[in-house]
Amino acid sequence: VKLFYEGKAKRVYGTENLNEVEIEFKNSLTAFNALKKGEFDQKGAVNLSISEILFAQLEKAKIKTHFVRKISENRIRALQVQIIPLEVVVRNRIAGSLAKKMGLEEGGELPFPVVEFYYKSDELQDPFLNDDQIYALKLADQNEVSNLKKQVLEINKVLKPLFQNIGIALVDFKVEFGKTPAGEIILADEISPDCARLWDLKSGEKMDKDRFRRDLGQVKEMYEEVLRRLKTV
Ligand SMILES: Nc1ncnc2c1ncn2[C@@H]1O[C@H](COP(=O)(O)OP(=O)(O)O)[C@@H](O)[C@H]1O
Ligand SMILES: [Mg+2]
Repeated sequence: VKLFYEGKAKRVYGTENLNEVEIEFKNSLTAFNALKKGEFDQKGAVNLSISEILFAQLEKAKIKTHFVRKISENRIRALQVQIIPLEVVVRNRIAGSLAKKMGLEEGGELPFPVVEFYYKSDELQDPFLNDDQIYALKLADQNEVSNLKKQVLEINKVLKPLFQNIGIALVDFKVEFGKTPAGEIILADEISPDCARLWDLKSGEKMDKDRFRRDLGQVKEMYEEVLRRLKTV
């Protein structure tokens, strides 16, 4: 197997099937565009299992994903796609960079889910892009952008109540999409506590990568707790 790409949290390998890749989930953890680095034992396996459960729920709701099957505790088979270099974010509440740039406290409910796009580039620190910038720079056309918005809002419609049912607020999350050889845009990459804000509904405790970013401790324990609860859905 040939290593195609090594990222911050995963490795992507080619397979004998030209339409499929193998994705290995690493134990590493990075924040602030890789300026801060860490890891914990079983992190890859926990994130893989969380992603697997969420992708299965999305597939049940007729949202297409790249997931094919689990190969081992830290590897999956996925459809190879051409990743659209946009991080697609949905926010249900004010937190993170939105709170920071507006000088607002975290936690306020937004009146509707807010979709944002960021250019996927560590060197440039994932800059925010508005729709016009995306079209003018030919990162995606109008049809593609409306497709991405529609899909990510559907994903939010599935995931928000799913987390609500296990006592977790889905504050915000980021996903990546890719194009299949047939030109279809499908959900790729992962959905895990690395790319979502998950707050315990009762205690307000953070159950996501902010524990690592902000040195709150119990990173592993909280990721494991998210998985434990998801196994009950
Ligand atoms: N199905 C797929 N086909 C091809 N590339 C993918 C697929 N799913 C995810 N990727 C890409 O593989 C890489 C995953 O590794 P990751 O560690 O998340 O990288 P990064 O540090 O760039 O975020 C990302 O660049 C992601 O866009
Ligand atoms: Mg990534």
